[in-house]
Amino acid sequence: MISTRLHPDKQTAAQAIAGEIADLIEIRSKSGKTTVLGLATGSTPLPLYAELIRLHRAEKLSFRSVITFNLDEYAGLGPSHPQSYRFFMEENLFRHLDIPAGNIHIPDGLSKDAAKNCADYEAAIRAVGGIDLQILGIGRTGHIGFNEPPSAADTRTRWVHLDEVTRRDNSVFFGDLAQVPQGALTMGVATILEARRVELIAFGEAKADIVHRAMKEAPSAACPATWLQQHPRCTFHLDAAAAKAL
Ligand code: F6R
Repeated sequence: MISTRLHPDKQTAAQAIAGEIADLIEIRSKSGKTTVLGLATGSTPLPLYAELIRLHRAEKLSFRSVITFNLDEYAGLGPSHPQSYRFFMEENLFRHLDIPAGNIHIPDGLSKDAAKNCADYEAAIRAVGGIDLQILGIGRTGHIGFNEPPSAADTRTRWVHLDEVTRRDNSVFFGDLAQVPQGALTMGVATILEARRVELIAFGEAKADIVHRAMKEAPSAACPATWLQQHPRCTFHLDAAAAKAL
């Protein structure tokens, strides 16, 4: 079931979600437990990451007990490429926190054996007991992670072709469409649905139609975000513009 939470602006949404994450980390670490977070890249989670960094600096929120798994990585891009998701995460979150380097997981875009890398990724998630809380954005194609249409509900971490709409949307970061990789490694829909909580964030009018489809269309591979309707604990955090078509 998808519940919606309307926020007046990005900053307020970021504070609300960061507060939930901080509570989860604090409650679990008090009883000696780790917290496993699933993380997204793209422009949407940036205010959330800025707020987590603020909580770490100003409120002494520690990330020593946190384990992270990112949703995806571009095929062919390594950690030093400025558009790789590994680089993005280091710059915008990890290097500002006290999270142990060994607790960070991102699919390896340079892997020579993508199938093995993806199977190992699934195994690593299982080995730590699954994801407690998954952060998601949503693409205009209805993708979550890089699960482009069609993506079935039983898909697992794998190599995927990027949709041309997604490549065009993301070309703003590369400066040139030709530089945007054709493929990516992404957690599957099933991997995402197994997270115990899912917090999807969408801001702005450009996301209004796809938010509407994700919530109202019957679940199908044609719009992978519709599978979230089958999740027991999924919240869409929206501003008024993104909620406009609901
Ligand atoms: C990013 C990811 C994608 C993005 C989506 C929205 O790790 O998996 O699904 O969340 O493309 O991107 P932005 O936030 O840039 O609109």
